[in-house]
Amino acid sequence: MDYLKLQGLQSVSGNIKISGAKNAALPLMAMSILAKNNIKISNLPNVADINTLLTLLTNLGAECKKDLNSVEINTSNIKEIIATYDIVKTMRASILVLGPALARFRHCEVSLPGGCAIGQRPVDLHLKALEQMGATIEIKSGYIDAKAPDGLKGCEIVFDKITVTGTANIVMAAALANGVTTIVNAAREPEVVQLCEILNQSGVKIDGIGTAVIKVHGNNGELVDMIDFSVIPDRIEAGTYLCAGAILNQELTITNTEPKHLDAVLSKFEEMGFIIQTTDSTITIKPTSSIKPVRITTQEYPAFPTDMQAQFLALATQADGVSIIEERLFENRFMHVSELQRMGADITLNGHTATINGRSKLSGTDVMATDLRASSALILAALVADGETNVHRIYHLDRGYESLETKLENVGVNIKRLKE
Ligand code: EPZ
Repeated sequence: MDYLKLQGLQSVSGNIKISGAKNAALPLMAMSILAKNNIKISNLPNVADINTLLTLLTNLGAECKKDLNSVEINTSNIKEIIATYDIVKTMRASILVLGPALARFRHCEVSLPGGCAIGQRPVDLHLKALEQMGATIEIKSGYIDAKAPDGLKGCEIVFDKITVTGTANIVMAAALANGVTTIVNAAREPEVVQLCEILNQSGVKIDGIGTAVIKVHGNNGELVDMIDFSVIPDRIEAGTYLCAGAILNQELTITNTEPKHLDAVLSKFEEMGFIIQTTDSTITIKPTSSIKPVRITTQEYPAFPTDMQAQFLALATQADGVSIIEERLFENRFMHVSELQRMGADITLNGHTATINGRSKLSGTDVMATDLRASSALILAALVADGETNVHRIYHLDRGYESLETKLENVGVNIKRLKE
C-alpha cells in the first residue's frame, strides 16, 4: 500500500489546476445507459472511483474507451444489469446505475451498497421513489431486485430528505418514463444541475433545473441522443486546496474552477479573515494578520458542504480562538478528529458537534486515513505540523483527488508517495 510522506511548515506559492468533479462524472457516466449513441465525456478526473464505475459498466457489456481525462462509452451491447457486490462494495455510488438501468431494461439487480466509514448511507429514498414510479422492488440476499415490466410511470415524488444521488437516480429514471415526474425537495448541488442540463440539451425536457422542484418530461422508453460534454470542475477539490493556502496562511491560486459553486465556502474563508479574489475561472486566497475562529453547520447546497467539513476542522486548529463545527448530514463524519488530536490538536467532540480550541501547535507523526475527505484533512494538518508526517491508507485519497502529491509539489510542498 502507498503512503504519503510530508515535511511540515512549508511555504507554498503559485497555481493549482482543478480537475473535473468526481461527483458530477459518476452520475454522468451512469447516464450513458440512457443513450442511443456513443457518449463522449471530457475533463474526467483520473481517480479510482471513476475507474471503478467504468469497470462496472464494462462488466455489464458497455464498451468504454478511456484516455487519461476523457472517455467514450457505448452501452448498446448491455443486455441485463447485475451490479455485483464486489464492485458496489468498493464504491456505493454504483447505486447510480439503478435508475437508468431499470428505466431502460425494465429489470435490474444491484447489490445493496451497505454503509461506509462516514455512516449507514441507506438508499431507502431511492427505492421508495422507484416504487412510486411503478417498480416492484425486492431485497434478496443483499441485492436490490427491481422490476418494471410495463416501464416506469411519471408521478410526483416528494423526498423526505434531500438526497444527491437519490435525485440523480430519479432524474435518470424519469427521463425514460411514461409521463411527467415532479421531484419535490430535490438536491440542488451543481453536480445534479449538470446532469439535468446535459439531459435537457439532449432532448429530455426538464423544468426547474437547479431548484428544489424538478419536472422531468419522460420520453416513454425512447433512448436519448446524447450530446458530448465536459465535466464541471470539482468544487470540493478546489475548496481543499484553498484550505492548503489558508492553513499555511499564504497566498495560493487555483485555476480551472467555478467560484460560484463555492459561495458558502468562500464566505467562511472571509469570515476567518482571509482575502478571496476571484475571476470567472480562478480563485486566489490571500493571508490574514490573524486567523479568526469560525462556526460552521454542514447542510445541503447552496449551504456549507459536508464534504468540506473535515478540511475546515483541520484549518480551525490554526485559528486564534474557539471554533464550533456541526455535522448535520452524516452520523459518523468525525473520523479525522482522533488523528488530528494525535498531532496535537485540541478538539472536543459532543455528538454531532466538534469544538476546536485554536491555535494548536501540531507535530508531525504517523497518521491513518479513514475516508476520502478525512484523508485530505490529515494532509492539510501535515502541511502546518512541525516535522515529518506519514499519511497511511491513502487509497481513500486516491478515490477522489487526482495527482494530489504532484499538484502540491508543483506549489512547493515537500511531499513524496512511497510504498509501505
Ligand atoms: C453524495 O452522497 C456525495 N457522493 C457525497 O460525497 C456527499 O457527501 C453527499 O452527497 C452529501 O452532499 C456522490 O455524489 C457520489 P445523500 P449521497 O443521498 O448521494 C441520507 C464525497 O466525499 N439518505 O445526499 O450518498 C443519508 O444517509 C462523498 O465525495 C437516506 O436516509 O448522499 C445522508 O444522511 C461522500 N436515505 C443524507 O440523506 C437515502 O435513500 C444525504 O445523503 C439517501 C440518503
